[in-house]
Amino acid sequence: MARLDPHSFCDDAQPQITTLDWHVTVDFERQVLRGTAALTFAAAGGGPLDLDTRDLRIHAVSTLGGAPVAYVLHAADPVLGARLSLMMPEGTVGVRITYETSPEASALQWLTPRQTQGGVHPFLFSQCQAIHARSVVPLQDTPRVRIRYTAELFVPAALKALMAAAFVSREVRGELAIERWEMPQSIPPYLFAFAVGDLVSRELGPRSRVWAEPGIVEAAAWEFEQADHMLSAAEALFGPYPWDRFDVLNMPPSFPYGGMENPRLTFLTPTLLAGDRSLVNVLAHELAHSWTGNLVSNANAEHFWLNEGFTVYAERRIQEVLEGAEIGALHEALGRRSLDEALADFADRPALTHLRTDLTGVDPDEAYSQVPYEKGFLFLKTLERHLGRPAFDAFLKRYIETFGFQSITTDQFVSFTRGALPGALEAIDADAWIDGPGIPPNAPAADSARLAALTSQGDTPPDTAQAAAWTPAEWQLWLQHLAEAPERVDCAALDARFALTRSTNYEVLVAWLELGVLAGYAPAVDRAAEVVGQVGRMKYLRPLYRALTRTEAGRARAVECFERFAAGYHPIARQVVGGIVRPK
Ligand code: BES
Ligand code: ZN
Repeated sequence: MARLDPHSFCDDAQPQITTLDWHVTVDFERQVLRGTAALTFAAAGGGPLDLDTRDLRIHAVSTLGGAPVAYVLHAADPVLGARLSLMMPEGTVGVRITYETSPEASALQWLTPRQTQGGVHPFLFSQCQAIHARSVVPLQDTPRVRIRYTAELFVPAALKALMAAAFVSREVRGELAIERWEMPQSIPPYLFAFAVGDLVSRELGPRSRVWAEPGIVEAAAWEFEQADHMLSAAEALFGPYPWDRFDVLNMPPSFPYGGMENPRLTFLTPTLLAGDRSLVNVLAHELAHSWTGNLVSNANAEHFWLNEGFTVYAERRIQEVLEGAEIGALHEALGRRSLDEALADFADRPALTHLRTDLTGVDPDEAYSQVPYEKGFLFLKTLERHLGRPAFDAFLKRYIETFGFQSITTDQFVSFTRGALPGALEAIDADAWIDGPGIPPNAPAADSARLAALTSQGDTPPDTAQAAAWTPAEWQLWLQHLAEAPERVDCAALDARFALTRSTNYEVLVAWLELGVLAGYAPAVDRAAEVVGQVGRMKYLRPLYRALTRTEAGRARAVECFERFAAGYHPIARQVVGGIVRPK
């Protein structure tokens, strides 16, 4: 018996779940899901079965045949949640668990109508990565175990339920609608996902449509128009798309991430709706996960770089096809800046800057940073440089083919690469990348004419022609450069010329507000205090609250904002911001 995932009670000597049949009522009044989860095993078994749960109320457990099953719900571990131990009779092919979730379920956010765009209907969504699926369904919550599922959701008839799965049917029965969904491809549990709200769709192409609240569906359709085209570009790079559809869901503003690669239905923050399609690299990123992450998955959170490092690499390859190498280089430079910041943040925890991490006793949400993303990207780019692109591309395709629909460790990556590319890992000193801190000296630097122009620009503001030609990425890089010495910047003059406080591009806006807050520019402080009440994306909350807490004028403001807005934040965002505003 062995526990192979530090974040799961799953025991590989016990029966393995292969299918979930989920039937739940979505109760917006009590903010709970209640119903049954029927779990079927790969082979009939008996004896103990340990499942992961978090804040679940278990009402009953039986075999699929209806015989009662004895169980114990253990005391909760702060990181893992509570182990649910079943004792099954011999020959059990599956179990049925009757249960309900808690209003505090860590994977769920229940939104009041006021927290939605339309303001009339409530909204519910899930966010299961890394280890929150267990707060929605009792199961073996480790990516080592892949499952297929069917689902039946009872929702208010005015609302639409969506799942990261294939639609089967919708039936209205009085005040309720029954939505039936089915996931034919096997997934790690962290990709289990659904949303319920006032949602409508627009077609984007033969394999994709966009879902959003009615008031913003046109804007979302315009912004993500390239989805289907991107899908074809990605297939040319990484091989056939195995998930049938690539639909996207525009989320409410409190969605804590930029995007989440839920298979067949990517979730995207509404902050991407800049009106200029300049933020679609996030769409490319989530699409890229279809191969790197969803098809080849990390075996557990210690190998998260296999998901995110490969995906950032793949995202930039898609971007290069769509927008060219110059734009790609700007994004690489932005990535490098965010990596340097992450490394500085982890100065006292250098082990978290390795690609492979030891997360025993560590919450994956706490270890989350740009390191697996951008250091992972740089590592793969180093390998690409060493091999040359054609050889690297062939390697990448073979890697995806070899490990498709599997969940793998860094060791598996290493031994596969040793076999496929003898000597390559040694040549680039892969050990230093994988098990060492920081950035190894052979890391490649982004390089392009536009980047060089930006570097020689220094602190000088762009002239009118330059300002008109700059992409949002160039603005961001320039503003981030200025923020290194905010006291030297005349924010009022810049704002008068470029109206930055009114920018509708969140990437540019947040870079500007960070600078403005640090420089003590009052309109930026006011706007920052407003923005943290309008969006819940942690990528923006984190730097804004940080900048506020770092200044005399902003500190009290940050506390005030947090007290006012915390209730509307996603549970994970609330925790992250709480740590900034009220450090232990
Ligand atoms: N899978 C991640 C989001 C995630 C990671 C959720 C870990 C929970 C735990 C997603 O693919 C992602 O990386 N999103 C980025 C997008 C960016 C890198 C383009 C984000 O949210 O900012
Ligand atoms: Zn990702």
